[in-house]
Amino acid sequence: MKENQPLHTSQTSDEVPLRPGLEGVPVTRSAICDIDGLQGKLSYRGYSIAELTAQSSFLETSYLLIWGNLPNPQQLRDFEKEIQMHRRVSFRVRDMMKCFPASGHPMDALQSSAASLGLFYSRRAIDNPQYVYDAVVRLIAKIPTMVAAFQLIRKGQDPIQPRDDLAYSANFLYMLTEREQDPLAARIFDKCLILHAEHSLNASTFSARVTASTLTDPYAVVASAVGTLAGPLHGGANEDVLTMLETIGSPENAGSYLDQAIAKKQKIMGFGHREYRVKDPRASILQELAEELFARFGSDEMYEVAKALEKEAEPRLGSKGIYPNVDFYSGLVYRKLGIPRDLFTPIFAISRVSGWLAHWREQLGTNRIFRPSQIYKGEQNRKWLPPEQRNTTNLQNPQI
Ligand code: SDX
Repeated sequence: MKENQPLHTSQTSDEVPLRPGLEGVPVTRSAICDIDGLQGKLSYRGYSIAELTAQSSFLETSYLLIWGNLPNPQQLRDFEKEIQMHRRVSFRVRDMMKCFPASGHPMDALQSSAASLGLFYSRRAIDNPQYVYDAVVRLIAKIPTMVAAFQLIRKGQDPIQPRDDLAYSANFLYMLTEREQDPLAARIFDKCLILHAEHSLNASTFSARVTASTLTDPYAVVASAVGTLAGPLHGGANEDVLTMLETIGSPENAGSYLDQAIAKKQKIMGFGHREYRVKDPRASILQELAEELFARFGSDEMYEVAKALEKEAEPRLGSKGIYPNVDFYSGLVYRKLGIPRDLFTPIFAISRVSGWLAHWREQLGTNRIFRPSQIYKGEQNRKWLPPEQRNTTNLQNPQI
């Protein structure tokens, strides 16, 4: 079938094969991120992830992703300054968070808070470049503040204000932990943000693009993406990886754990990827960052378990192209930085907001609302009956 050839809905069931999970189905053209899943290569706007992680900063990389080119010195200074000026969140947002249950997951708190920004900046002027710029700045600036605020609020404390003398990542760690971190910790954290910032049409970015395609506001776009990122098959896996490593307990148990999990058809968290058939390049860089942290601040016994699991998984799952993904080593880095486990996925969101916003802009450039089709397998021509005459055993449709 030719590209863009109109297809009537009634043709769908006969002529178009169903692709569960949309595997291999292109739904847009994009110039943001390129993945070579066979060679394990990843680039943002043509720059390799290894080079960006080594040389760039998260804010510079965000600028690159969203506006397409690396900023010149003045553009970078302006962008950093604007973000610094917009880090604070309204007392109304903080008060709203105080009403959230302390036992709630921080991803749910973040989704609600991100959506609430739409109430404060409700002028939906997505064809106005200044509105777009301001929305980008506000979201990148305020999301870390909201994540840190919920962490303190749920402990019964007042959130602390951002510090203007601290750079983006150092300031986030300060707001979260209430103390200024070692510069190495802030530098490694910033690199983690670069690594997580973008990854083509993953589930949350697709969610962002679908929401964007309705021409709603960017706060709704980001809130929908946060909700999608939270699931354990996506960003939520980084939390489950640590739980799994603790369950395994020691390196000698890795092989038997894998054998049992594979026999029960359980997924090994932090392994496997729709795009990669080799180790995710981000996992390799995160492993190096973890080692840098361990060399400075002391090792972590769970790292030995993780390495044993990776080694034992190779002969068992390697032939299927299942290797560690980005979520496998990130939790070990965050744990060494003293970050609570249920904040790992919100930190993924702090970073990925740049990718979502890049895709939001790109989607608006050539927008057509997403409205895929389905193959209907349900009942036809049923007649309504009063409740006492209904055969309730027929309510489930075995064909779906
Ligand atoms: C992220 O898309 C992105 O780019 C996402 C991401 C990003 O930056 O945005 O990279 C971030 O979401 C990373 C992925 C985090 N999730 C996990 O670590 C959860 C564990 N992994 C999986 O469940 C799985 O690998 C997915 C969800 C990542 C990918 O799912 P697919 O492509 O739908 O693959 P599948 O589940 O259909 O599995 C295909 C085969 C199956 O075997 P068969 O039935 O064909 O014999 O591979 C097996 C699966 O059983 N398999 C695994 C496995 N992942 C796939 N077997 C054991 N352990 C695994 N982790």
